[in-house]
Amino acid sequence: MKKELLLCALPFALLACRGEADRKGQEGSYPEKEAAVRIGQTATTEQYRETGLEYAMAVQAALGKTLQEKISKEGAPAAIEFCNLNALAITDSLSRELGATISRITDRPRNPQSAASEGEMKYFSVYRKDLAEGHTAKGLVALRENRIHVYYPIVTNNLCLQCHGSPGMEITPEVYSGIKERYPEDRAVGYSAGELRGLWKVAFPEN
Ligand code: HEC
Repeated sequence: MKKELLLCALPFALLACRGEADRKGQEGSYPEKEAAVRIGQTATTEQYRETGLEYAMAVQAALGKTLQEKISKEGAPAAIEFCNLNALAITDSLSRELGATISRITDRPRNPQSAASEGEMKYFSVYRKDLAEGHTAKGLVALRENRIHVYYPIVTNNLCLQCHGSPGMEITPEVYSGIKERYPEDRAVGYSAGELRGLWKVAFPEN
């Protein structure tokens, strides 16, 4: 039971998302929407989108693998601490390796360092609208501060709710107190399954 709780901390709804896209045979409307940008529909945009997705998946896999090792060695209660100490560090080290900056952003942060910027907030409404309409998102390519950024949605599933659902319902008092202790300003609770939780953000270096 607790093991399951940890495994689900692999926030890896991205894959699930893509699966849905295939099933439904339709795509969201990125990046044609206004939010998406100034770089236009070129082969290059497509390449950035694909490469960005590969990078986001690499980080996702690395986070997942390390977390699984942690779980098998130390058990479930270490999960929150693991995320607290390592999620950002793993993202950082892979970013260095891949030569692009990879991070997770959200409009309802648990870790304040992962808060979306004001300019990025509009992407959340674009993705939420598409999710509500049953489309599945492609990467959204944007030119920000003269760098190309690609964003991909991170969507909740039932497992995430053990740490991102409602305290007293899906989140046990023990888990919740561990969260509040490390994140007194936590805003990342109250989610249901199938909601937009955040975005992977891949920032390519300037040429
Ligand atoms: C074991 C508890 C736990 C589970 C389960 C869990 N998370 Fe989290 N999540 C955390 C913690 C703790 C952080 C803060 C990590 C940090 O300090 O960077 C976090 C941060 C995040 C962030 C970064 C933005 C922010 O608010 O700091 C995203 C996105 C995220 N989680 C998505 C998910 C998704 C999607 C799932 C399910 C697939 C999931 N999480 C499952 C504990 C959990």
